Amino acid sequence: MPIKAIEWIDKKLKIVDQTKLPGELVYLSIDNYNDLAEAIKNLRIRGAPAIGIAAAFGVVLAAQNVPKGQRSEFFDEVEKAVQVIKETRPTAVNLIWALNRVRAVIGKNANRLLSEIADLMLKEAQAILREDEEMCRKIGEHGAELLPQNVSVLTHCNAGALATGGIGTALGVIYTAVEKGKSVKVYVDETRPLLQGARITAWELAQAGIDATLICDNMAAFVMQQGLVNCVLVGADRIARNGDVVNKIGTYNLALLARSHGIPFYVMAPYSTFDMSVASGEDIPIEERSKDEIITPFGRQIAPKDIKVYNPAFDMTPHELINAIVTEEGVIDQPNEENISRLKKNLIKT
Ligand code: MRU
Repeated sequence: MPIKAIEWIDKKLKIVDQTKLPGELVYLSIDNYNDLAEAIKNLRIRGAPAIGIAAAFGVVLAAQNVPKGQRSEFFDEVEKAVQVIKETRPTAVNLIWALNRVRAVIGKNANRLLSEIADLMLKEAQAILREDEEMCRKIGEHGAELLPQNVSVLTHCNAGALATGGIGTALGVIYTAVEKGKSVKVYVDETRPLLQGARITAWELAQAGIDATLICDNMAAFVMQQGLVNCVLVGADRIARNGDVVNKIGTYNLALLARSHGIPFYVMAPYSTFDMSVASGEDIPIEERSKDEIITPFGRQIAPKDIKVYNPAFDMTPHELINAIVTEEGVIDQPNEENISRLKKNLIKT
């Protein structure tokens, strides 16, 4: 069983501090929403489903820290927590989706005792975690069926156990395929600038005993040209109504490369990653991060201090380049608005 990224233990949220990987496996026990917001903003916890789950528990932390009986303080503090957490990262829709779920529980139960409301909020956050675990398992099952008996996969960033509440989305497919007796090799893009591939995916796959080879991002075309990979598997941070996918910067490059080498490009994501209020990928906000991540990565200066920098954390892959999106409900071949709504109409909550 791959590592658990998030657990609720003794009224605290236990997470792996992913900024410390792969050198150290450090767990944090978070007991207030400000620390939780800091952890999301600074990528101690990251990956779209994982930050959604963490956000839900963040609001629970706010509720449990209000002194007993103070009704208006309770609602003010909880709403403040929602706003603070919402501001941490703008792209992954799971964050907003999970916050809205917990907030809806508060709205529906506003006349109850505060202790009951807090309890219901906790139950909702725990349900989000449990459902995510289950969704990963189902995505793994559906995705594994797409892979041939012998397969060499290229993956980007980290869409594994450390990005979710379960076995992961893209990596969940790999774990499931291996469990089913398939022979799977994985090429891992290092994923500049924050190296989630090198630091997190390479570590996670090694822990799980999967045959993994690390490459720099600029090697992907040559690796494909040499016939070393026969499919690309990635996760998603937000999917528009028409199937355009926003994922870690560098994903679009891989989709273009895969198309020109005749290699299938698959996206794995649960329904919480679809945003049906957004018509196309161009309307999805792309987080821009600090220039320091490019100029002084991991504390070492590698470029002139005052060079201009553009640092988008995500890019948008048009749906035409995607062979299929694998969800917990099944596989959407040739994703477009029609094919998505056919499979998802009973699932998507906007
Ligand atoms: O900035 P991050 O590390 O939170 O970005 C996460 C990703 O883009 C992942 O690769 C992913 O596919 C989405 S989470 C399963």
